[in-house]
Amino acid sequence: MSISKYILFTVLNTIVIYGAYAQHNIPQVEELLQQMTLEEKIGQLNLVTPGGGIATGSVVSDNVEAKIKAGKVGGLFGVAGPEKIKIAQDFAVNHTRLRIPLLFGSDVIHGYKTTFPIPLGLASSWDMELIKKTAQIAAKEATADGINWNFSPMVDIARDPRWGRIAEGAGEDPYLGSAIAKAMVQGYQGDNLSNDKTMLATVKHLALYGAVDGGRDYNSVDMGRVKMFNQYLPPYKAAIDAGVSSVMTSFNDIDGIPASGNKWLLTDLLRDRWGFDGFVVSDYTSVNEMIAHGLGDLQAVSALALNAGLDMDMVGEGFLTTMKNSVEEGKVSEDQITKACRRILEAKYKLGLFEDPYRYIDTKRSAKDILNEENRKIAREAAARSFVLLKNHENILPLKKVIKIALVGPLANNKKNMLGTWAPTGNPQLSVSILDGLKKVAPRATIAYAKGANISNDTELATKVNVFGPRIEIDKRTPEEMLQEALELADESDVVVAVVGEATEMSGEASSRTDLSIPEAQKKLIRALVATGKPIALVLMSGRPMTIPEELALPVSILQAWHPGVEAGNAIADVLFGDYNPAGKLTATWPVNVGQIPIYYSMKNTGRPATSETFQKFKSNYLDAPNAPLLPFGYGLSYTQFKYSDLSIDKEEIGQGQSVTVTVNLKNTGNYDGEEVVQLYLRDVVRSITPPIRELKGFKKVFLRKGETRTITLALAPEDLKFYNGQLDFVSEPGEFEVYVGTDSNVTEKVTFSLK
Ligand code: BGC
Repeated sequence: MSISKYILFTVLNTIVIYGAYAQHNIPQVEELLQQMTLEEKIGQLNLVTPGGGIATGSVVSDNVEAKIKAGKVGGLFGVAGPEKIKIAQDFAVNHTRLRIPLLFGSDVIHGYKTTFPIPLGLASSWDMELIKKTAQIAAKEATADGINWNFSPMVDIARDPRWGRIAEGAGEDPYLGSAIAKAMVQGYQGDNLSNDKTMLATVKHLALYGAVDGGRDYNSVDMGRVKMFNQYLPPYKAAIDAGVSSVMTSFNDIDGIPASGNKWLLTDLLRDRWGFDGFVVSDYTSVNEMIAHGLGDLQAVSALALNAGLDMDMVGEGFLTTMKNSVEEGKVSEDQITKACRRILEAKYKLGLFEDPYRYIDTKRSAKDILNEENRKIAREAAARSFVLLKNHENILPLKKVIKIALVGPLANNKKNMLGTWAPTGNPQLSVSILDGLKKVAPRATIAYAKGANISNDTELATKVNVFGPRIEIDKRTPEEMLQEALELADESDVVVAVVGEATEMSGEASSRTDLSIPEAQKKLIRALVATGKPIALVLMSGRPMTIPEELALPVSILQAWHPGVEAGNAIADVLFGDYNPAGKLTATWPVNVGQIPIYYSMKNTGRPATSETFQKFKSNYLDAPNAPLLPFGYGLSYTQFKYSDLSIDKEEIGQGQSVTVTVNLKNTGNYDGEEVVQLYLRDVVRSITPPIRELKGFKKVFLRKGETRTITLALAPEDLKFYNGQLDFVSEPGEFEVYVGTDSNVTEKVTFSLK
């Protein structure tokens, strides 16, 4: 760049940043577009990875250096560290005709090097400030390593725990999911994207990816628009309303057209209806995958994608290799390519990369900003807040700090499985094992460890799960020898803490399961431990709701710990010893068995609702399982108890556009200080399309000292009464509404009001 041009660019940049922040017609971008050849524009639409991250498809990009230097790359992912990123940025800035800087992307899903709990765990905190904070820290760390574009948040509503990627999202509910989507976008992006501690966020995967048939990853989705608009689309829209910079398409098809080539989705809905003005990136080779979906050859599917409104092609290079021909043959217009290119350049502009392509490259920052004590402290707190106490048999928990503990289970002294799925930037060896955490938090306790069982004895499963390194390690000893050792320890101890569950890669991408129980090897261990008669606390780790009717019926306490992240052991010790009183609540229903799936609290009534748990012929129920789940949405216990009383509402009748306020008294009646997530559910009794039985429309997390009572106020805004009707208009309809307030989605106390 010539000096005069550089000065002009800088001046323009400053004017636009500090002036009205025009999203389009940024003069600098327009000027650049004027100078670009068709090939250079197509180059900007190409996103490559040299394979340094996780290759989630069958290909990685080749000749990356040559391609960058030839102006054939708009962004790179799977590369990290200021030194490496500087080299790549140099290729673009010093070797290409127009010196356009690259975007550097990454999957920073739940923290960068400071790995926080998996997103499903973080969601269980119901703590939006905390979630935003974790996203801020993730952005600060990732940008210190040169990353300026994040492939997060993943907001796919998931009501099928067979789907392994349920771990990556916020669970089943669109209201909670929307709040979390907003918090994460704000956390990553802040309010000034050109700040070097914020990065572009990407909402993914548009759309409906969590509803794949049978919970099998990448499978088809077929869903009516009313369900889509009311139940599945809100979190994507919330991210867009929060100003998310980019959108990633999903692998699945919608109405027979894969998301990456779906014009209704990417243009009619996303741009025309929702007003999104950022750029759309495909998922990993999802453009090419439309060939396998049956939509034509590479040129055809690439043209389909571009014409649908997709701007950037991840890894597949169909845009790079076919788009010029398609222009020449009249299959796509140069104007459409210019539009896509403009959106990518605008993102680079927003990041301040034209002003300084090296803005995110600072070799001094990583040492102080990444995985520092302050960030670890938040990770510890976040993990403790993500845990859900499922059962506390005879108040085994919290444990005393001077006690003899038998710590057993394949996850009890196991750093490799603490970070959870999609933590490619974290280092498992830097995580705190449960054994280390317990010893640190309770130095006067006597703690003896035995593995007790393998995560699974199934060597075939182990091979499938161990693709990123050993997660299921099958011991050289026989299962009997391992069990014997654990039982001997149990006999000598006051209490048993058994850390059991799934290995990290048993959930996540391409990790669907049809059996959601604790693997049999561990079930045997649990049964044998129970037979000793010792008090037992199970710490259960998983990336999804599990089917645990057997364990829940045992005389044990159960703490659901998800995959807790880098501070796993410390956080678990904080909760087991009562330094932190658990307050997490489930954000996805736990089924009794796999046959109940999909199961979620906001189901519809049917015309023949079952009125009791006893089987009723010609009613909507099963012969061999209850309708009720094992554990409902919103469920979670505390070491203390809370009592709700005096639920009331300020108005019995309101007009359109008016709000109502609900109050309830909450008393901490137990022996510990603690937090409760007060939940508000709304039932629209009669309306033009069948209403769900109830829907979450408000929540508040409150801390009460033991004995304290507080009046909690929750407001319902006019928006909260609205839904998408048969014409997909967002409306509220006159009639009666029931408002339920309480501790989980089963709450029965209600007040009513009507809308005129
Ligand atoms: C996943 C995306 C991810 C991408 C890049 C894909 O397989 O579906 O969520 O962002 O890989 O790593």
